[in-house]
Amino acid sequence: MRLASRLAELTPYLFADLNARAAAARERGADVISLAAGDPDLPPLPHVLEALIAAAGDPAQHRYPPYDGLSELREAIARHYRRRYDVRLDPRREVLVLIGAKEGFAHAAHAILEPGSAALVPDPGYPAYASQVQLAGGVVRPLPLDPGRGWLADWGATDPRMARMVFLNYPSNPTGAVCQLADLADAVAFCREHHLALVHDLAYGEITFDGREAPSVLQVPGATEVAVEIVSFSKTYRMAGMRVGAVVGNPELVAAMRVLKSHSDTGQFRAIQRAAVAALEGPQGHLAGDRAIYQARRDRVVARLVELGLQPDLPGGTLYVWAKLPAGLSGRDYASMALERAAVLVTPGEAYGPSGKPYIRLSLTVPDERLDEALDRLFRPS
Ligand SMILES: Cc1ncc(COP(=O)(O)O)c(C=O)c1O
Repeated sequence: MRLASRLAELTPYLFADLNARAAAARERGADVISLAAGDPDLPPLPHVLEALIAAAGDPAQHRYPPYDGLSELREAIARHYRRRYDVRLDPRREVLVLIGAKEGFAHAAHAILEPGSAALVPDPGYPAYASQVQLAGGVVRPLPLDPGRGWLADWGATDPRMARMVFLNYPSNPTGAVCQLADLADAVAFCREHHLALVHDLAYGEITFDGREAPSVLQVPGATEVAVEIVSFSKTYRMAGMRVGAVVGNPELVAAMRVLKSHSDTGQFRAIQRAAVAALEGPQGHLAGDRAIYQARRDRVVARLVELGLQPDLPGGTLYVWAKLPAGLSGRDYASMALERAAVLVTPGEAYGPSGKPYIRLSLTVPDERLDEALDRLFRPS
């Protein structure tokens, strides 16, 4: 069998290597604590689970779902945008249900890019943007985020030639930065001026700390002309395994993504979509509690890393701490030593783009006792 060469460009060797070493260490009996994944450890919300179970017990819910998602869910998403952001969406033209946010990056890239055209991708940023650009035949052009300015993009120094789209993500994985509405307005203005599509990933929209509020790009007046926003239920509603999200905004791009989806899948299980409706329309009280739990973990991680001589950012949101290592040491070196000497798996910053080389990312999604144990085991880099 001959596999397509495009596969070889994906999955960085570095990631696969660390995961394989962690698996081998576990097989040898090591108690490896993974601070690598952003997979919420908090249990499912009871009302969401009840809605899922009730719908799963109804034979009618086992038929194929509509391609663009259940109308009840599209309407619930539109109501949510109205309540939460004061943004009006047409649930028929401006909302499309996805099988998780990640799926949306693939369809957006395929809907917009031609072979050889470029996409601006945050550096550092969530790796799925770059891989989907590559799979769509596009060229990945790093969009440098400035650590000195709260990890914002410097639009004045950004080259839009040959580009067709921009990916953006605030609250930001891996940096934890939360931006202001004015920063999203700058992104919209840049995209409007250069005729680019803007795909804003709001996966961590509700995971914010110290009373911060994360804006939606669609709150920028006129944003719908150039932008879509990708919504995820994974982190906000502890539904990572259920795989449900949405794309909202620019009706032309939403329609193109609907066409692509209709050729590649037939939508998410109706029962999961009903669980998503329950999540949006049910009590939102868990949000304050979840933020408090993650914020307390953030504080413990940051304090310990400072003690160890690293330079962590104090994240304004997300489920991660992004920490710079002392000069001369790469994230890859430290991640390798952390696994060998402490049986703790952290992510090397390089996985998020070239600028991430001197960083590591630690996830806040392990129970408190395990997190404390991991922090006790970590050591001062030398
Ligand atoms: C920035 C970002 N966007 C999207 C996702 C994936 O979201 P979903 O589970 O809805 O596919 C993640 C997951 O870690 C993420 O970090």
